[in-house]
Order: sequence, then structure tokens, then C-alpha cells
Amino acid sequence: MNSYNIALIPGDGIGSSVTDATWEVLGAAAKTCGFHLEGKEFRWSCAFYKETGAMMPANGIETLRGFDAILLGAVGWPAEVPDSVSLHGLLLPIRKAFVQYANIRPHRLLPGVQGPLKSQDFDIVCIRENTEGEYSGAGGRVHQGTSEEVAVETSIFTRMGVERILRFGFEQARKRRGRLASVTKSNAQKYSMVFWDEMTHKLAAEYSDVCVSSFHIDAMAARMIMAPESLDVVVASNLFGDILTDLGAAIQGGLGFAASANINPDRSAPSMFEPVHGSAPDIAHLGTANPIAAVWSGAMMLEHLGEASAASLVMAALEKTTTQGIGTVPGKDKTDAITAAVLAALD
Ligand code: NAD
Ligand code: IPM
Ligand code: MN
Repeated sequence: MNSYNIALIPGDGIGSSVTDATWEVLGAAAKTCGFHLEGKEFRWSCAFYKETGAMMPANGIETLRGFDAILLGAVGWPAEVPDSVSLHGLLLPIRKAFVQYANIRPHRLLPGVQGPLKSQDFDIVCIRENTEGEYSGAGGRVHQGTSEEVAVETSIFTRMGVERILRFGFEQARKRRGRLASVTKSNAQKYSMVFWDEMTHKLAAEYSDVCVSSFHIDAMAARMIMAPESLDVVVASNLFGDILTDLGAAIQGGLGFAASANINPDRSAPSMFEPVHGSAPDIAHLGTANPIAAVWSGAMMLEHLGEASAASLVMAALEKTTTQGIGTVPGKDKTDAITAAVLAALD
């Protein structure tokens, strides 16, 4: 029997309810399909930071390296720990250390979910660069607190980084409907974004079977609302991909539906699976967090582990649940009730 070791990091706020739900659903799918998931939980979070002064232990990355995959809930509790501390202490270092350079974020409506747009028939996958660009962390502040203060935050785009994410996007387009939309802001950002456009153009010659177009980020934001059905694979830098995927979440019914996979395509280190959403402090005490985004991310993990039938089973259970109108309206159903419906649909 195949067995997989999974590191579970529930994190903060609604993170633990959605990872608990996901773990239950994945366990049931594994049982049905005849494989085993062994989970080890790491309670690294803002509460852990307050106890220890760090978001994870000094050997945290090395500890995670031995796992087959990581399932993460959400990180951040800004009322108590600044986001710049918590995210740079846990989530972002994992993505970077494990070279999870491709962040895959699917946007489509599950059956029974009413999106806010006239267009209900879209199927987009956003491929977000996940290790460099605007999130390089390079920069600094001088003359802090004075009228001469200057803050600099430098984006770093390497040829290796840009080429590999674009290639990943082209490969995804080949597996799907053969269309790739590359997103930049090269009309205003004349170094990094012009470089990205040039690389897109260069690689397009190699992938002549893929229909490529380039968009500016502002125009892409409008297109995702006005004509989402015209899009197939959208590839963007770290920050632009971050923004577009909350937009993608909105058009698919809300953040409770948006899944995400941080992939190390070379499999030289574990990949990490987490919903697009954060810890949702505004609803964390209500028990109404939608676990669907996290469960969908869990299905992406099963797919990555090579358990494609189990992944399809989980997706079918999510679709059956939303078809019944359960979990489709934000705040209406409790997390537990949605999870129970997904488990029942798995049977
Ligand atoms: P958020 O995604 O946590 O919440 C935005 C809105 O969406 C809120 O109104 C929230 O209630 C709602 N929402 C989110 N997930 C939901 C779900 N599963 N079901 C129902 N409603 C849901 O974004 P935020 O408020 O900007 O961030 C809160 C904290 O989370 C911050 O510390 C932020 O930095 C962090 N964050 C972490 C991640 C991550 O760990 N990957 C992602 C985004 C934000
Ligand atoms: C996401 C989140 C993170 C990001 C934050 C919390 C650093 O918004 O996963 O989309 O920007 O990558
Ligand atoms: Mn985000």
C-alpha cells in the first residue's frame, strides 16, 4: 500500500478549521482508494511566535524537507504579530527554500455556486511566479521617521526565474486549451517587465502550438471581469499573480472557493498546498469558514502525489456538495456542516 508523509501546518485563525476538514476528507478518500496518509502536525503560527519569538524553529525548513508534501491553512494574526514578521517567518521562506516556483491557482465556478458575473462559464488557471519578483525582500528604509525618509523595495527578476515560470505556463497551456496570457506592466516598468515580455516572445517561438498574448495587468484585471471566458492559462509575476488570484477568487464566488498549489516542479523538495485565502480574523470565531478552498487544494496535493483517482473523487464530492446548495453562500453554512456534506458525498 502506498503511504505518504504529510506535514500539516494549520497556522492562524480559520487555518486550523479548514485544515482539519481537509485532513478528514483526504483521509476518507485515501481509505476508499487504498493508500495511506500519515500526518504530522506543526503548530507553527503567531501564537507559537508569541511563545518562542520565532514563527518556526531554527531547523523548521530542514524538518519539513523530509515530507512528501505540506498542507497549510493560513498564516497571519495582524492584531498581535505584524504581517511582515509572520509571513516572512513562515509561509514565504517555505515557498522560497523549497523552490516552489510555480503557484497554480484554478478559477472556475463549482456547480451551484452563483458567481457575481454575467459570465458563469469560465475556466482559468493562474500560474503565479512564487519565489522572486516583487517578493524578493530586497530593500530598506533610511532616515526612518523623519521628513527625509525613503523606502526602497526592489523587485528581482532573474532569467532563470522568468524562463522557468513562463515554460511552466506554456506547458500548462499545452495540457489545457492551448492559450497563454502573459501579464506585465511593461508600459510603465521598463526593465523587469520589458524583460518578461521579451522572454515571453522568445519562448513563444518554441511553443508555436500555443496561442500567446501579452496583457498589461490593469487591462487583465478588467478582462477577468468583462470576458473571463476568453482566458485559459494566465501567467504573472509574484505580486500581480497575488492580486489577480483574489480577483479570480471573487469571480468564482469568494475566497472560500479558491485553491492553490505551490509546486516544486523538479520534485527536489516538497510542494505545499494551501487555500488562496488568509486567516480571516473577521470570521475566525464564527465557525463559518468555507473549507472548500482548502479541500480543493488537498485534491491538488493528491494529484501531485500521483493519486489521481482520489483527487477526482474529492473534486466530485465537492461538486456534489455545491450542487446541493451546501457551502455555496458565504456565511450560511457552518464549516462542520459543509465538511459532513463533502464526506457524505464521498461515500
Ligand atoms: P483573508 O483572505 O483572510 O480574508 C479576506 C476576506 O475573505 C474576509 O472577509 C474573510 O472573512 C473572507 N474569507 C477568507 N477565507 C474565507 C473562507 N474560507 N470562508 C469564508 N470567508 C472567507 O485576507 P485578509 O483579511 O487580508 O488577511 C488576514 C490575515 O491572513 C493577514 O494576516 C494576512 O496577511 C493573512 N493572509 C495569509 C495568507 C496565507 O497564509 N496564504 C493569505 C492571505 C492573507
Ligand atoms: C497569498 C497571500 C500571501 C502572498 C501573503 C499572505 C504573503 O496573500 O498566498 O496569496 O501574497 O503570497
Ligand atoms: Mn494573496
